[in-house]
Amino acid sequence: MKKRIAVIEGDGIGPEVTRQAVKVLNAVAAAFNHEFDYTYCLMGADAIDKTGTPLPDETIDICLKSDAILFGAIGHPKYDNDPAAKVRPEQGLLKLRKSLQLYANIRPVTTYSSLFHLSPLKSKNIEGVDFIIYRELTGGIYFGKKETAADGSQASDDCTYTREEIERIAHLAFQHARKRKNKLTLVDKANVLETSRLWRKVVQELALQYSDVAVDYMFVDNAAMQIILNPKQFDVILTENMFGDIISDEASVISGSLGLLPSASVGKGAALFEPIHGSYPQAAGKDIANPTGSILSAAMLLDHLELKEEAELVRDAVNWTLQNSFVTKDIDPVNFYFTSTIGELICDYISGKISGTVNTENIELRKSTII
Ligand code: IPM
Ligand code: MN
Repeated sequence: MKKRIAVIEGDGIGPEVTRQAVKVLNAVAAAFNHEFDYTYCLMGADAIDKTGTPLPDETIDICLKSDAILFGAIGHPKYDNDPAAKVRPEQGLLKLRKSLQLYANIRPVTTYSSLFHLSPLKSKNIEGVDFIIYRELTGGIYFGKKETAADGSQASDDCTYTREEIERIAHLAFQHARKRKNKLTLVDKANVLETSRLWRKVVQELALQYSDVAVDYMFVDNAAMQIILNPKQFDVILTENMFGDIISDEASVISGSLGLLPSASVGKGAALFEPIHGSYPQAAGKDIANPTGSILSAAMLLDHLELKEEAELVRDAVNWTLQNSFVTKDIDPVNFYFTSTIGELICDYISGKISGTVNTENIELRKSTII
């Protein structure tokens, strides 16, 4: 199979983790006889530095012509504390989502028994946690009218949703629930917000078409609490843009490290795959960032291209590294391996170079020197 993949390495640790994911895709291509053509393009602070804009038109063009997009991370501290900044790296990502109509952000939350000790939650509460968040990505308060009074004394952000915007993502979430445990939870604030009441109405109507899926409704403040108290109760969570942004970060800590989790943003055009972590500028260039989120995003990309066996093999390889304590510094601050070493190990697993018992001698050589 021949596919065109746009690669946006982005800012901070984006380039180094994305490079591991590309290595892994190359190992998959070699093992299964596929051809992946990569086109590199700019977005974020990197793009501002090089072109003056966070999302050059060329990047949109390349993404439109690709079968999938692999993205690293966005953001730079020099913009974070400057409310007056006219251009911001994040504007690039928001514009790309809108331009490609990537209206559904999908974030699976799973746990790994070898990492239970890292979770802020008790092991008994996280064992078996496995849910997925469908966050609406191109509407709501993120994209509503924004105004600041001329004298700077007042500002507003409108939150608007149309029935169509809700229906299209709700269908995806219902269909996914059918492939899982047939349960969907709509998270909203329908006791206060008009937009949330529209979400509830539309989802209640659609539920009639998916009578095999059990639907429940939860206010976002309660959901924030339930995700910590009893995360096992969830299967598919469906929610609007801003609530989804917040609860998906909250949910990401359950597994023990933000560095593990992948995401997919799908819609009308090519889908985009990115780890959920940020650009982590303090770690940039040190070869210590966790590439797992990016590599698992590549697995989601393979799933999206209907390469199921290939995607499973990547996930098996990741599980193998975690089970054998081949982990980065965020997971084991003393006995850790470099970003690039984890990438190589996963490639070796995919190419069949690792079998049964592992001779750790060579691997040990590439371990951190800081132990
Ligand atoms: C995310 C990020 C973005 C968002 C930022 C970088 C604009 O936090 O993908 O969750 O808020 O959507
Ligand atoms: Mn976020």
